[in-house]
Amino acid sequence: MPVRHFLTLNDLTTDELDRLLDHASKLKRSWRDGRVRDSLKNRVLAMIFEKSSTRTRVSFEAGMTQLGGAALFLSSRDTQLGRGEPIEDSARVISSMADAVMIRTFEHETVRRFASVASAPVINALTDDFHPCQLLADMQTYREHRGSIRGATVTWVGDGNNMCNSYINAAQLFGFHLNVACPEGYEPDRTMLAKAGNQVSVFHDPAEAAKGTHLLVTDVWASMGQEDEQAARASTFANYQVNEQLMSLAAKNALFMHCLPAHRGEEISVNMLEHPGSVVWDEAENRLHAQKALLEFLILGQLD
Ligand code: CP
Ligand code: NVA
Repeated sequence: MPVRHFLTLNDLTTDELDRLLDHASKLKRSWRDGRVRDSLKNRVLAMIFEKSSTRTRVSFEAGMTQLGGAALFLSSRDTQLGRGEPIEDSARVISSMADAVMIRTFEHETVRRFASVASAPVINALTDDFHPCQLLADMQTYREHRGSIRGATVTWVGDGNNMCNSYINAAQLFGFHLNVACPEGYEPDRTMLAKAGNQVSVFHDPAEAAKGTHLLVTDVWASMGQEDEQAARASTFANYQVNEQLMSLAAKNALFMHCLPAHRGEEISVNMLEHPGSVVWDEAENRLHAQKALLEFLILGQLD
């Protein structure tokens, strides 16, 4: 069987994604019931981090341990990757010793090059362009709270960044309409928008985009690698804060999500994480369950 990778959500079909999320919720229940599962006994996940992380590292590492396997934390600062060893050479070697490889890096092309020669599944744990693992958790969280997202409207407020691009992919795979509200010049990738057609609408007025929406989502204004732009972005995005007032325009019982880390007083109001519609803590925890399902799927080829 050819090796399957998870570089964007598009690497799985809608049917596989639905089954994977069902399985993630089952794994969550069985873990909460204290049942021991060793489906990945003696398996190893190599985790390459070229950017910081809390949730991604903890969820993948805890997930592998809970399934009976182990995870290796590899920072580019301490490996030959940081000293210029070609990515393809590293990919051949690391994937020959590990059962799967997770990478968080800058250019999306890096994970593509790694995967092109890897003999084990490669998982994109965030690049400048995509964050598909977060979308698994977000979609699991929505369905656990509200059921199927098919036919719903989701509103993204903020930068047309890696998370926004993954929401565009999700809109097409899960069948929801996506409104994107962003300042001029910060729209998502034009090719992706063209491909999504009328499934994605771009607004410059957050209030218009939020009207009647079922899920309001935002993210930091300056992503990792854009630290120098923080001050300029804070002024450009000032009118794009998700707060109680914006949330009041959404549908009754609308949910609020943020992949975290969040900056209170910037992209969200001080109390937004405690809003009755906020499901951010479930969303963060679901990184663990969704990725355990993903690891079983990629390493064992099973979804139950
Ligand atoms: N949401 C997310 O990926 O968080 P970390 O950067 O802490 O991994
Ligand atoms: N867009 C953010 C997401 C962090 C999880 C970043 O890339 O820094």
